[in-house]
Amino acid sequence: MLIKLTGTSTHSADPSDDPMGLLLACHGRIRQHLDLAQRLVDVAEPSAQDVSDSCSSLVRYFGRALPLHIRDEDELLIDMLRGRSIPPSLTEALSVMCAEHAVIDPAIESAIQLWRRLRDEPLLLSNLRDELMPQTLLVSTLLRAHLDREEREVFPAVSLLLSDEERKELTQRMRQRRQAMG
Ligand SMILES: [Fe+2]
Ligand SMILES: [Fe+2]
Repeated sequence: MLIKLTGTSTHSADPSDDPMGLLLACHGRIRQHLDLAQRLVDVAEPSAQDVSDSCSSLVRYFGRALPLHIRDEDELLIDMLRGRSIPPSLTEALSVMCAEHAVIDPAIESAIQLWRRLRDEPLLLSNLRDELMPQTLLVSTLLRAHLDREEREVFPAVSLLLSDEERKELTQRMRQRRQAMG
């Protein structure tokens, strides 16, 4: 493959009991896969096997693990805060977070369609590169800014509001969701 990935599927294997630790570990894996997507368009003449393997990982990660991460944030995180008084800055940050998810989703979907074609027909890379380059740039720019913003404006503020009990409950709910997905 074009880049070495570690712990590529979901974040259920993370030993941490802290939900923010789980979310941050996911961010690490998202960034790793964005690096892989960039390598795919940067490497001059990758082998067909490399292209196929890399696209297979990208389709699997962005098609399955990323949506779970986004649902953790859109549903579990927000559910945990429901009904309590939170600072206006956090209310604003959460609404930006959800709005960004809605923008990221179709951009990722378009990239997945290209990666899926290349996974199955890796020799098409030279034909598809002109389409893949701007799509990779779009996905990468949107996601990297989004992850940075969550780490700066959402996770620390949410963390301050949760009790130890709530932290454990959130972690448990995230893990249960992954187990239910198989
Ligand atoms: Fe997010
Ligand atoms: Fe996130």
